[in-house]
Amino acid sequence: MLINGDSGSTISALDRGLQYGDGVFETIAVADGRPCLWERHYRRLESGGSRLGISIPDHATLFKEVSTEIGLNDTGVIKIVITRGRGSRGYRPDSDSEPTRIINFSSWPDYPVAARTTGVVVRICSTPLSQNRTLAGIKHLNRLEQVMARLEWDDMEISEGLMLDSDDHVIEGTMSNIFMYKDGQLHTPDLTDCGVAGVMRGLVLDVAAEVGKPVTIRSISRSELLAADSLFLTNSLMAIWPIRDVDGKSFSLDSIDQKLVSEIHNRAYV
Ligand SMILES: Cc1ncc(COP(=O)(O)O)c(C=O)c1O
Repeated sequence: MLINGDSGSTISALDRGLQYGDGVFETIAVADGRPCLWERHYRRLESGGSRLGISIPDHATLFKEVSTEIGLNDTGVIKIVITRGRGSRGYRPDSDSEPTRIINFSSWPDYPVAARTTGVVVRICSTPLSQNRTLAGIKHLNRLEQVMARLEWDDMEISEGLMLDSDDHVIEGTMSNIFMYKDGQLHTPDLTDCGVAGVMRGLVLDVAAEVGKPVTIRSISRSELLAADSLFLTNSLMAIWPIRDVDGKSFSLDSIDQKLVSEIHNRAYV
C-alpha cells in the first residue's frame, strides 16, 4: 500500500476520511499490468474532488504511484482513496489541510465464473438511499447505506442487492449500476438525486450512443423494473452481469444486445 507516495499502511487518526468520510475513492480493474479505463477514473476523481473542494493529485503523480503499486502484477484491483487530509476538531476543514492519498493493490475478486453467461441472482434491499443532489453521482467515502444494505443478506447465491430511494424508484445496486431493456429500448435510472455515476455506466452510455441506440435515462419504479424484458448490472470490475432472478422472479437474458455486451467487454479492460 502507498500512503502519500510512501510504502506503508498507517494514516493519522485525525484524517477527515476516517472522521467524516470526507473524501472520494475509485476501484479500478487491473489487466495486463495496467489500470483499466484510467482516464475515466481519473476524470471522476477530479469531478468528485471539485464538487467537494478537495484537490486531487495531478494525473502524472497518481498514474506513477498506481503503476508502482501494481508492480509486476498482471491482473487485480487498484483502490485509490483521496481524503481532504488531517483536520482539527469539528467539521470545518483547516484551510491548509493537505489531501491524503491511499493506493492499494489487491487480487482479483472471487466472482462466480458463470455470472457473465448465465446471469446472477439479485434481491431488492429494504435500506433506502437518501436523496441529496449535492452528493448525488459522486463516489464519495460515505457508504453507510451500502454497508447497511449489504448486511441484509448472507446467502452466497445472491450476488447483488438493488437499492431504491424513499419514493420507490430503483437507483442502483449496492456496488453497481443497473440497466433495463423494455420493448427493445435500453433504460437506466436517473442519478440526479442519488446514486454513484459509475465509470462502467458511463462506458455503456457512450457505446450505446455510438452505435445509434442511445440509453434513456429516467426514473424507474420498482414495478417497472419487475416488468422489464431483461436487466443487467455494471461496475468497473464485473463490466456487465446479466440478471436472471430478482427476489424469485425470473428474467430472460434474450433481450440483451450481445453486440453491445461484447463491445463493452472489449473496451472495459484496456
Ligand atoms: C454504490 C455504487 N454504485 C455504482 C458503482 C459502479 O461504479 P463503477 O462503474 O465506477 O465501478 C459502484 C462501484 O463500486 C458502487 O459502489
